[in-house]
Amino acid sequence: MSSAATERKINKWRLWGVNKFLEVNTALSPKQERNGEPPTLGLVRSLYHEDEKEATELLQEARSSLKEMDMTWVIFGACEFLNEYPLRTSKENGSVLLKHSDVFRTFGKKASQGTKLYTKAGEAYLRFRKIRDLNTLPMPLFAKDYLPAGWMEYTSYRSSVSQRLESKTGASLPMFDILMFTSFDLFERVNAETIEPTKPIPIVSRTLFELIKRTSYTDYNASEQGWSDSKKLDEMKDEDMRYLIVRLKGGRSPAPEKQWSENLELDSSIIGFLSFMITEEEEENVAYIYEIHISEHFRDCGLGRHLFSLVEHIGRATGMDKTMLTIFTCNTHARRWYDSRVYEVDEISPRPRKLRGGRSIEPEYEILSKRLQEHANKKTKS
Ligand SMILES: CC(C)(COP(=O)(O)OP(=O)(O)OC[C@H]1O[C@@H](n2cnc3c(N)ncnc32)[C@H](O)[C@@H]1OP(=O)(O)O)[C@@H](O)C(=O)NCCC(=O)NCCS
Repeated sequence: MSSAATERKINKWRLWGVNKFLEVNTALSPKQERNGEPPTLGLVRSLYHEDEKEATELLQEARSSLKEMDMTWVIFGACEFLNEYPLRTSKENGSVLLKHSDVFRTFGKKASQGTKLYTKAGEAYLRFRKIRDLNTLPMPLFAKDYLPAGWMEYTSYRSSVSQRLESKTGASLPMFDILMFTSFDLFERVNAETIEPTKPIPIVSRTLFELIKRTSYTDYNASEQGWSDSKKLDEMKDEDMRYLIVRLKGGRSPAPEKQWSENLELDSSIIGFLSFMITEEEEENVAYIYEIHISEHFRDCGLGRHLFSLVEHIGRATGMDKTMLTIFTCNTHARRWYDSRVYEVDEISPRPRKLRGGRSIEPEYEILSKRLQEHANKKTKS
């Protein structure tokens, strides 16, 4: 889920929590209730920088999806609100300051349960803010802080690899540029053009899409989910997706027989890429690798390894707990390659399913990961 969608979900339940808490614990005018107006609208400024329209929408959304209510954020919202706005109730002997324990009681939780939920939410909120701040950082600042400048070019100085590269590119010093883009950079024009769906996707994103389709179409099609152009494009367009694109230096095109596609409308100087997202997975912050594809003529030259080193560096520099990826079990070549990059089966990876006769069915895909931070290892096996 993108940071913006996660933030919306958190805010929906935070706001609903404040609203419900005030509804139960403070005097409300019956008129407001009749009109269905949120009683806290005047107070939402503290949470939404005066955006009352968004608050109203969120409250309506929450009301229509109460079955999915996330109590952690409900309690967090009400407690945070109380921290900022001490409120009094004047029910019995004069006015009494409302406390966190009143929040817990309102939502049917014992003090110990409520405190646990509030602490958990506080930790999750800090984790989330870190992700959101990284994902909203303008690209030049992100690059300055987290991209190792010297790594944005690639030339192998190992003579055997250099020779191979020379034969593949026909240049005496084959070099590659690694360029970083956000999905916004790649798809901005598509979004502006969605009114007319027949318009072509801009050339770079179209090239990446075709490269994925070329190497993964068969694996997807053999799986339960199948291949869908539109689903893949939606995933590629996720606003938090980032792309590390390998291009022959200077935008040079490889010799025609080394080009992976005969489609002249594609950018043939692009010979591979990795896409990743800074996100959260099971209460840990991760750099999730979505795609890695090197065109067949340029494999085994260290480019995949270089892209992985780069994303792992970004992961460490941004304080992510680990890098993760998903792979179809049938892709044995890539699976062995990930082994060589020291990726292990993650604890959330689906397990083989045991049938009654003792036979077991292997999952269609696996989730692999590599821990990046020595210390943030509450889940590391000893
Ligand atoms: C998997 C893939 C990204 C690897 O990229 P690459 O650029 O060819 O790999 P590299 O040249 O960087 O490999 C470097 C190292 O891995 C080793 N290696 C290469 N292929 C290997 C394999 N199948 N198994 C084990 N080791 C392998 C190389 O010997 C080299 O070892 P070294 O670091 O000790 O010198 C590439 O093959 C590819 O794009 N495959 C098709 C797309 C795909 O399946 N993507 C994964 C989707 S989940």
